[in-house]
Amino acid sequence: MHDSDELDDILNEIRNRQNPHTEDAPPKPEPPQTVDMPLFDQADAPTPAPKDLPENPTLPTEAAEETPAAPAMPEATPTADGREDVYTNVFSGTEETRAEATYTPPTRPLGDDEYPEEEMKKIILTGDRPTGKLHVGHYVGSLKRRVELQNSGEYDDIYIMIADAQALTDNADNPEKVRKNISEVALDYLSCGLDPEKSNLFVQSYVSELTELTFYYSNLVTVSRLKRNPTVKSEIQMRGFNASIPVGFFTYPISQAADITAFKATTVPVGEDQLPMLEQAREIVRSFNTTYDEVLVEPKALLPENEICSRLPGTDGKAKMSKSLGNCIYLSDEPEDIRKKIMSMYTDPDHIRIEDPGKLEGNTVFTYLDAFCKPEYFPEFLPDYQNLDELKAHYTRGGLGDVKVKKFLNKVLQAELAPIRARRKEWEQRIPDVLDILREGSKVAEAKAAETLNDVKASMRINYFDSDQSDM
Ligand code: TRP
Repeated sequence: MHDSDELDDILNEIRNRQNPHTEDAPPKPEPPQTVDMPLFDQADAPTPAPKDLPENPTLPTEAAEETPAAPAMPEATPTADGREDVYTNVFSGTEETRAEATYTPPTRPLGDDEYPEEEMKKIILTGDRPTGKLHVGHYVGSLKRRVELQNSGEYDDIYIMIADAQALTDNADNPEKVRKNISEVALDYLSCGLDPEKSNLFVQSYVSELTELTFYYSNLVTVSRLKRNPTVKSEIQMRGFNASIPVGFFTYPISQAADITAFKATTVPVGEDQLPMLEQAREIVRSFNTTYDEVLVEPKALLPENEICSRLPGTDGKAKMSKSLGNCIYLSDEPEDIRKKIMSMYTDPDHIRIEDPGKLEGNTVFTYLDAFCKPEYFPEFLPDYQNLDELKAHYTRGGLGDVKVKKFLNKVLQAELAPIRARRKEWEQRIPDVLDILREGSKVAEAKAAETLNDVKASMRINYFDSDQSDM
């Protein structure tokens, strides 16, 4: 997740963008139009009915369940007189010769169990740059969801990456900062409930295959395409790079495509600011699969469920939560720090006396309550009100003071963050174990990435010493 004031601009650009492949796209071959087509060899697949085509045919859909199962090719049933080339069509009941046999391939999307092993897998990859401790914005915007996805049992493999190599693309002069934050981010992950038994936690720079993939993919991306990436554009502005943009930073969307595709990830849970990266990754996959043999999997972004969670403002009400602005509540903050930050939170500047009517819009305290409050907190901490709607109504009507609402938010946040902080404290005593988890996770990640790199090289026919050398 990025600190970004320009989120609106970014989103507008994404929404307005008509066609990712314009004048300067690689000239040939054209990527297929059917961007959401199944990720399997189309020659082997029945034609799906265009209207019923699900967003991602590897996932079961209601449409797929409603459509009756496709009949199998009729078995040859020798007829009474023993003629073997004639058999009864089990659908029509009539006798047919093999040549006459009528068989219409199913026109529904494929069911879950009809995909080859590899295609059926649901794989998550996501990650964070280790440039600081994670804060409550990261928590509601992504960490909480990751833990839910992890515990849903719906995913075959989950890879969570600490993107140190990416962090170096704009911190080349400060590797110490990146180094220090590897364990901080890992501690944040573990304390939020990411479980190394279920999610593979790893460090990007330990998987050197990612760098190699990036190099090959970079041949499929143009400079002007990279320049159009709205997130990169706004980051360049924010960092004041202007004319002195490091090449590594400029091309990090390509390396991010490598991160995703190396694990054949189908699902990438990210914030909205990462959508341009996903789009770029999908373009690279399509370009690769049409230029060479089809080996890469097109990923899909999974956005936070509600908008408040995808962009929680800073405690000062500014959209940008950043260390330098001092407006973040960190997952590792002590209770007293949290309380102080909440008591000084930005509310409605026109809500001066208790009896004044208050505004909810832009009122950070209520935004945080929207993000964190659960119904059960009312009987526990504020029994005068049934729910958040009642509290909001009283506030807008007038007669409810900011301090009362802030005290409630403090109790809510303390309740939410206490178990996270407690788990963090435990893990902080076990740093060598944390590093072991990352080391082991990186080995697993490397093995998977190496497999993909092999596929990629074979597909590009640059595996000269492998098998078929007859044309060398
Ligand atoms: N760019 C992401 C961030 O800054 C981190 C990241 C690197 C990532 N590679 C990724 C996220 C691949 C998702 C998928 O938070």
